[in-house]
Amino acid sequence: MKARPFETAVAAVKRRAKVKPVVAIVLGSGLGTLADHVSEAVRIPYGEIPGWKRSTVPGHAGELVVGMLSGKPVAVMKGRLHYYEGYDVADVAFPVRVFKAWGIETIIVTNACGGLNPGFKAGDLMVISDHINFMHANPLHGPNDDSLGPRFPDMVGTYTEELRAIAHQVDPDLREGIYVAVAGPNFETPAGLRMLRGFGADAVGMSTVPEVLVARHMGMRILAISTVTDMATGIPGQIQHVSHEEVLAVADRAGKRLAGLVKGVVARL
Ligand code: HPA
Repeated sequence: MKARPFETAVAAVKRRAKVKPVVAIVLGSGLGTLADHVSEAVRIPYGEIPGWKRSTVPGHAGELVVGMLSGKPVAVMKGRLHYYEGYDVADVAFPVRVFKAWGIETIIVTNACGGLNPGFKAGDLMVISDHINFMHANPLHGPNDDSLGPRFPDMVGTYTEELRAIAHQVDPDLREGIYVAVAGPNFETPAGLRMLRGFGADAVGMSTVPEVLVARHMGMRILAISTVTDMATGIPGQIQHVSHEEVLAVADRAGKRLAGLVKGVVARL
């Protein structure tokens, strides 16, 4: 039988990487610092993995870093792909298919997001407890490969309780809440933000949900952490402009705390 694209990619990655990772980590905008903590690192540019698209966004390096973190073999995506770059969402989530085919059962997904919950502040870290897919795109659209997962995946309990509890043990100041994904690339209007808050969301961003949908489809254990890089409440009197530069600057500062959190979680897996 002809190899499926993610199987071809796994074969290519295995030829380069020395270890078999137990956890995959996806680093969001400006959050690449953690990749520098990986020891005995083998760095594979995305462009050198068949079927794996390259990121075009400033702040997203675009390499798979395979090595050791907190004593465990890991695969770290330094830079992720986004739907707003023009990729199909299935391409955005393709690396997750590769991770699972490689034998990885646990994924940690990080992102930069806007805070909708008025109790949050820029720099906060939030464990995602649940999400709303408002992206109007889904990587599971189209024919289902029954050998990978079910046609109609159950989404209850997607964000693994045990992993969330470990995260709170490692960093007791973590927030927890609901992430709503939008397509972007524009930031939201104040009216849009008030609507998203009305949905019950605590944070808004342009990523994470495609990867999580594919991970869930294949029954992986999932932890997702958002870095609140700006407050996006849309509340009159509190409305602020937001820029990608600001998002990256806050993410860079919060990235050190995030790195500590992820290392602590990996150590306890
Ligand atoms: N909105 C959407 N995505 C984001 C934001 C935001 O305010 N900040 C960082 N990513």
